[in-house]
Amino acid sequence: MSGADRKERQGEQHRRIRRVKGTRDLLPPETAVWAAVEATARTVFGRYGYGEVRTPMLEETELFVRGVGEGTDIVGKEMYTFQDKGGRSLTLRPESTAAVARAYLENSLQQLPSPVKLYYVGPQFRYERPQRGRYRQFSQIGAELLGDAGPVSDAELILMLLEFLEALAFQGLTVLLNTVGGSESRAAYREELLRFLEPHRARLTEESRRRLASNPLRILDTKNPQERELLDGAPRLTDSLSAEDREHFRAVRSILDRFGVEYRVDDRLVRGLDYYTRTVFEITASGLGAQDAIVGGGRYDGLISALGGPDTPGIGFAIGEDRLIDVLPEEFRQRVPTGVTALVAAVGEVAPDEALALAGELRAAGVSALAELARRSVANSLKRGDKLGARAVLLLGADELERGEVTVKDLASGEQVRLGRADAVARLTAETEVER
Ligand code: HAM
Repeated sequence: MSGADRKERQGEQHRRIRRVKGTRDLLPPETAVWAAVEATARTVFGRYGYGEVRTPMLEETELFVRGVGEGTDIVGKEMYTFQDKGGRSLTLRPESTAAVARAYLENSLQQLPSPVKLYYVGPQFRYERPQRGRYRQFSQIGAELLGDAGPVSDAELILMLLEFLEALAFQGLTVLLNTVGGSESRAAYREELLRFLEPHRARLTEESRRRLASNPLRILDTKNPQERELLDGAPRLTDSLSAEDREHFRAVRSILDRFGVEYRVDDRLVRGLDYYTRTVFEITASGLGAQDAIVGGGRYDGLISALGGPDTPGIGFAIGEDRLIDVLPEEFRQRVPTGVTALVAAVGEVAPDEALALAGELRAAGVSALAELARRSVANSLKRGDKLGARAVLLLGADELERGEVTVKDLASGEQVRLGRADAVARLTAETEVER
């Protein structure tokens, strides 16, 4: 090895390793906000009878090809697919609905009282061009209701979603709602749309020309102004709907009206996954830029049979947790306790493990407490308490120790009092309770 080679190799060995493009490190105190959002989801969904499902992050590639659809962007361009050492084609899940449907079948959940209600929280992977609100690893909070085809299920699921978002202090969100019809209506519409678009092939973008063959409904999603203009004259999906599809959509809207849900019917909403039938919906939030959908969902009455199971209807949604937290109302953030309540410091000759003992008494009473592990000046501990966001610094000098007392310095008011140990613990416990 030449000197230059050796140098280069050494340089390579000392290169700082960075996170993979499109992934993020979430750190405290932000992770406390994530945990609080997830806890809220568990509480709200739990009240509706949803139980948590945890499926593997790795699935057979075929699951998404059949479930999400070969012609979709997700399957066509965005999957993290690789061969494992046994030669199997595996994929890091790009979404979880297909995985939940597989788990439902594989674990014979159709034997449970119907409908089966499942929710999940966890990472998904898509090879997309990273930008604000779009990552290659992102987290979804999702819910799936399996085994009921009626419109009341659609409405209940949407009501639950809105209740969750309201619990996070969101206001004024509008649900975009549409129906893509059952599989027959969709097939009929597909033919009509093709008949209309074929003569205009030359005016379409390359992407849309490709979609003409794979998934023409997706062309309706286009943002290209020339295509938008062309599509203004296109046949409408609503005109291809069967009487049953129409009635289902009417019933869903009427129940949502009854409960005062703010929604807007958007007949351009087609969603990017092939499994949808009938009701589809999205919620967008302003302030997110181009990637403004925070929730997407809909009915998928043909998914389970496409995976080899019996005819089983389903409906669900997934919230993009990264985007949700990006636009989380300040009011909810303020409610999330972060940091520590008390910092305990031994002063002067008092051994630091005395601080450990008092911090233990505080924690036993439910108060979050840090002990100064090394000797520091009082001024230094007060400064550190401030930086740590503590409400109070507790000082244990020789005199306090001897009398079973402690000096409590309230960092917000600057007030300083000397209290018996038990009283000091009680005071901080009471403050912690108010915070809760
Ligand atoms: P989706 O519309 O593909 O639907 O994704 C749902 C949400 O996940 C999006 O609205 C967005 O907030 C978030 N999301 C998607 N891709 C990214 C990304 N690259 N970075 C950050 N956030 C992202 C589904 O996944 C369906 N499984 C939803 C569903 C459940 N339908 C029925 N049940």
